Amino acid sequence: MKPTIAPYPAARFRRLRRTPALRALMRETHLEPSDFIWPVFVMAGVDDETPIPSMPGVTRKTVDRIARAAKEAHGLGIPAICIFPYTAMDARTEDCAEAWNPDNIANRAIRAIKDAVPEMAVMTDIALDPYNINGHDGYVEGGEIVNDRTIEALVKMALAQAAAGADILGPSDMMDGRIGAMRAALEGAGHQNVSILSYAAKYASAFYGPFRDAVGASAALKGDKKTYQMDPANSDEALRMIERDLTEGADMVMVKPGMPYLDICRRVKDTFGAPTFAYQVSGEYAMIRAAGANGWIDGEKVMLESLMCFKRAGCDGVLTYFAPEAARILNG
Ligand code: PBG
Repeated sequence: MKPTIAPYPAARFRRLRRTPALRALMRETHLEPSDFIWPVFVMAGVDDETPIPSMPGVTRKTVDRIARAAKEAHGLGIPAICIFPYTAMDARTEDCAEAWNPDNIANRAIRAIKDAVPEMAVMTDIALDPYNINGHDGYVEGGEIVNDRTIEALVKMALAQAAAGADILGPSDMMDGRIGAMRAALEGAGHQNVSILSYAAKYASAFYGPFRDAVGASAALKGDKKTYQMDPANSDEALRMIERDLTEGADMVMVKPGMPYLDICRRVKDTFGAPTFAYQVSGEYAMIRAAGANGWIDGEKVMLESLMCFKRAGCDGVLTYFAPEAARILNG
């Protein structure tokens, strides 16, 4: 049904924008701390953190500090945290065995957070890049990123993370068939309550640069990820990827990057109605930070506006490095 609009001057849209009270009544979407998943970087060591130059305000933290940060985030109303490891360079190998080591720093961080604040949902990342000497998400054989052997490694990673207590697994590798393989393995191992948030529509984007600095994969990475991540020119393909992952057993789906891909978020939500998340990635964060630091934009207002726009585009929530800062402002 098309709403009827009276001709001017009977209809004056500015009537309902006149005061904060009227604008509050008219607001169609709402942004809350409960919309956020906070991505964090964990490193070896004790009671320490190091800044990431291309992500001002973000640090790599040791496991104890991650647990403390998780507790604070929970206090701010943030329901979930997502762990990314900075693996020591000498633990990066061709076979990526550190990826499913039950005591790698990511798995230690999962356990530490669940100990410190059991109510907090812990999400993980599943891909080989932080453990791979060549920086790729999958095994490389003769210059090719191989699919099926990579899946076997990803399944081992998934089981180790589930055993460590992860609530949400986040396969970000873009191999074909990994969701079905992980789901079957989780069921088989008694982890039927572990959920999967699939990076289903993940694009081969230049916006990931600062993240690769953060996990130490930039220098190692040879070539690009275009044979497994999606072409930024494609939209119909995203829907097919999402449908495929949902039918293989994903509980939630993600679109990544975020702000340049809001059209994809909207199509995904309208088509499937599944729990849909966007990842406001490192490059988006860096741009807002940098322009804000230069006084070229109001960084705080742009941050909140960018986050609200994910909700308007149909997302149920957003992974954002701004989570604690935005939550503090939203909490007043
Ligand atoms: C790796 C992974 C990446 C991100 C999340 N998981 C980088 C990549 O695919 O190269 C990017 C996150 C960000 O840029 O904030 N599998």
